[in-house]
Amino acid sequence: MTEIIDGNAVAQRIRDDLGDAITTLEAEAVTPTLATVLMSDDPASETYVSMKQDDCAEVGIEAIDVEIDPDAPAQELYDEIDRLNADDNVDGILVQMPVPDHVDKQPVLRRIDPEKDVDGFHPENVGRLVAGDARYKPCTPHGIQKLLEAVDVDPEGEDAVIVGRSDIVGKPMANLLMQKAVGGNATVTVCHSRTDDLATKTRAADIVVAAAGVPEMIDGSMLSEGVVVIDVGINRVDAETEKGYELVGDVDFESAKQKAAAITPVPGGVGPMTRAMLLYNTVKAAGRHNDVSVSLP
Ligand code: GUN
Repeated sequence: MTEIIDGNAVAQRIRDDLGDAITTLEAEAVTPTLATVLMSDDPASETYVSMKQDDCAEVGIEAIDVEIDPDAPAQELYDEIDRLNADDNVDGILVQMPVPDHVDKQPVLRRIDPEKDVDGFHPENVGRLVAGDARYKPCTPHGIQKLLEAVDVDPEGEDAVIVGRSDIVGKPMANLLMQKAVGGNATVTVCHSRTDDLATKTRAADIVVAAAGVPEMIDGSMLSEGVVVIDVGINRVDAETEKGYELVGDVDFESAKQKAAAITPVPGGVGPMTRAMLLYNTVKAAGRHNDVSVSLP
């Protein structure tokens, strides 16, 4: 029997557990506050940000919604980040990626106060993660670690193959899985668009993390019996539905399910975990910022 990993259920458990930390903060008159900054009119980005805002409201985090015209000069985004950095009521700042082409993302990431960088994308936080001293673990790979833990998959000694080398998922996932720490200790291979003979690599894997952003690129023929499959892809493909599209992962779910011991669905797998871990990091940031000790799930 293949276990379908229920990201919604695990995310709900994390949100419930965060309630204690939020109560602790409230007792100290602290309302954790996240500012989301959207400089895009991409419908998917708009949806993600609005879901993040809704999640905050559900658990008692105040969400500040900042929207910047995608045609505005980069300086407008810089000024907004400066203002949020200086705002003592703001604990966490998230600039939704991608930013428009005329805005270079690196200076944006560097500009966010590392203490408020709840995405964990600032080079200081990336460096700390690599050094094994993470301040904020990036939400998607951290959420995947929590998912694996929830289904009793310990990466220690396992061959993990990550498909995709993005700064948001592939690179930090590799770091977390290889670390000498609980939830790590895997032997990690990172594959990408220039990888030769991908199927040979994925077939050798005990754990596959598919994060390339290519619809259904990994199918059952590329997997071994008993593999654990984590599908990070959320791809909109044309379909005759009411919306005119449907969401598919980077994994061909039906054929992969025939091989996998456990697999995440799309939607309802990794996506809800990314959002839950953003709440986690925001609560952590609020504790640090206000010198309140909070216990996190
Ligand atoms: N775009 C896609 N995933 C993410 C994420 O985790 N954080 C931000 N800020 N932008 C994203």
